[in-house]
Amino acid sequence: MSLLRVLVAYSSRNRSTAEIAAWIGETLRDRGLEADITAAEKAHDVTRYDAVVLGSAVYAGRWRRDAKRFAALHRRQLLRMPVWLFSSGRRDTSGREEPIPPPRRVARIARRLGAEEHRTFGGRLTDGARGVLAGQLLGEGPGGDFRDQQEVSAWGGDIAARLRSERARV
Ligand SMILES: Cc1cc2nc3c(=O)[nH]c(=O)nc-3n(C[C@H](O)[C@H](O)[C@H](O)COP(=O)(O)O)c2cc1C
Repeated sequence: MSLLRVLVAYSSRNRSTAEIAAWIGETLRDRGLEADITAAEKAHDVTRYDAVVLGSAVYAGRWRRDAKRFAALHRRQLLRMPVWLFSSGRRDTSGREEPIPPPRRVARIARRLGAEEHRTFGGRLTDGARGVLAGQLLGEGPGGDFRDQQEVSAWGGDIAARLRSERARV
């Protein structure tokens, strides 16, 4: 039987969401799935995949444009396959204790794609972050890396398990 192929597409400005996508992709590979990890704007053909994980950094309460565009552009194909979504940005790790709902517009994307689940992960905001507003935010509150690789990988493991059990039932 051929390997299950998963696309992990992301939109990231300062690379921390790209790294989360890579952690998910590595976990899927560890579990025997095939995974491509790609910036959302570079992913052109989703029909080659059995499932898609799409994630974006959250800026000013919104997903980045590339992630939104990906969701709109490939909606028809995505509706035919299992899709998981994640957002990253929180400056705390509270998502580990209880689920944090997505921003309103992201919830709408989840509905439009019939997504299996949306997860909110902690983000990273450090001195190297690009943009004037990043400096301003860092002046107002704590900076740091609030991502938890174990939490992210555990979610990747759940996705792998779900896909494998679906395949076994077919
Ligand atoms: C200007 C600015 C606005 C931000 N707005 C939000 C926000 O509304 N909600 C949120 O959860 N995080 C927000 N963040 C935090 C980022 O989402 C976080 O730093 C994220 O990890 C960045 O991802 P990236 O490294 O992939 O670009 C903001 C950060 C900056 C610099």
